[in-house]
Amino acid sequence: MRLLTAAIATVALTFGAQAVTAAPVEIKFSHVVAESTPKGKMAIRFKELVEQRLGDKVTVSVFPNSQLFGDDKVLEAMLLGDVQMAAPSLSKFQKYTPALQIFDLPFLFNDMGAVDRFQQSETGQELLNSLRKKGYVGLGYLHNGMKQLSANSPLRVPADAEGKKFRIQTSDVLAAQFEAVGGVPLKKPFSEVFTLMQTKAIDGSENPWTNIYSKKFHEVQSYITETDHGVLDYMVVTSAEFWNGLDDDLRAEVKKALDEAIAYGNEEAAKLAAEDRQKIIDSGRSEVLQITEAERELWVEAMKPVWKQFSSDIGQDLINEALKANAK
Ligand code: SIN
Repeated sequence: MRLLTAAIATVALTFGAQAVTAAPVEIKFSHVVAESTPKGKMAIRFKELVEQRLGDKVTVSVFPNSQLFGDDKVLEAMLLGDVQMAAPSLSKFQKYTPALQIFDLPFLFNDMGAVDRFQQSETGQELLNSLRKKGYVGLGYLHNGMKQLSANSPLRVPADAEGKKFRIQTSDVLAAQFEAVGGVPLKKPFSEVFTLMQTKAIDGSENPWTNIYSKKFHEVQSYITETDHGVLDYMVVTSAEFWNGLDDDLRAEVKKALDEAIAYGNEEAAKLAAEDRQKIIDSGRSEVLQITEAERELWVEAMKPVWKQFSSDIGQDLINEALKANAK
C-alpha cells in the first residue's frame, strides 16, 4: 500500500512539474546571407538579446546561408510553422503585395538616407502591414545597401549590358530594369549566384557591397561598376498565427529586442558597405569602375521608363511619396 502511495505521489509530482514548466517558445530565424553581413549580424544580436532577457522562455536558433530555407520557400514554410522569422529582401515579396515593388524601381532613391526616411514615414510604416491579408506580420525594415552592377566585362554605359545575362532576384521590376538596357535577366536563388558566375552561366549581377564581398562574387566577376542604381533592403517578417499566439508581455519583449537588433543591423549596414567596398578594391580581384555623371545619366535615362511600366501596379501616389524622401 505504501509503495502504491509513493508511486502515485511520484506520478503526480512528475505531471505537476510538467504543468508548471511550460516549454520555451522556439524561434527559428532563417536567412540566406553570411553571418558577417548586416542581416547575419542583426539575427545574431536578436538571439543574444532575447536569450539574455527572456532566459528559458524563448530560444532563438539562427540558420544563415540558406541552411534551412532559401527565399523561394521560406515564406510558405512560415505559414506551416516550420520557421518563425525571416528577413527576405523586399524584392522577394512581389507575389504577396505589388506595392513593395516600389523598392526595386531603379534610381528612385538618391541614397540610403532617402530609403530610411521613406521606410520610417507613415506611408513606409503602413507598407509593413501590406502582408497581413496573406497571414504575415511585417515587424520592421532592415538595411543592406545600395546595389552595384558586376560583370565579367566592363559596364560603363547601358550599351555595354546589351545581350548580357544577369542574375536577378524574383522580381518583375528587376527583370524590366535589365531588359531596359538590352540585358537578359535570369531569376535565380541567391545560393546559386557564385556558381553561376564561376561557370559563366551568367555574365553579371547586381548586389550591395556586403553581399558581393561575403559571398566572394568579386573573385568571379572581373568588374564592378559603382552605380548605386537601386536598393537591397529587407523586411523582417513572422506569421500572424505565431505572433498573435504569443503572450502579450512576451510579444512586447521580443519586439523590443528585435527593434534594438534592427537598429544595430542598420548601423552595421552603413559601416560594412564602406569597409567591404574597400576590401574588394584592396583584394585586386575585381576592378571597381567609377562612372562619370554623364555616363550615369545614360543609365538613368535607359532604366527610368520602368517606373511608368509599373506605376499602376505599385501606385503613382506611392511613388510620389517615396520621391519626397529624397528631399532632406
Ligand atoms: C539577401 O541579401 O538576402 C539576398 C539577396 C539576393 O537574393 O540577391
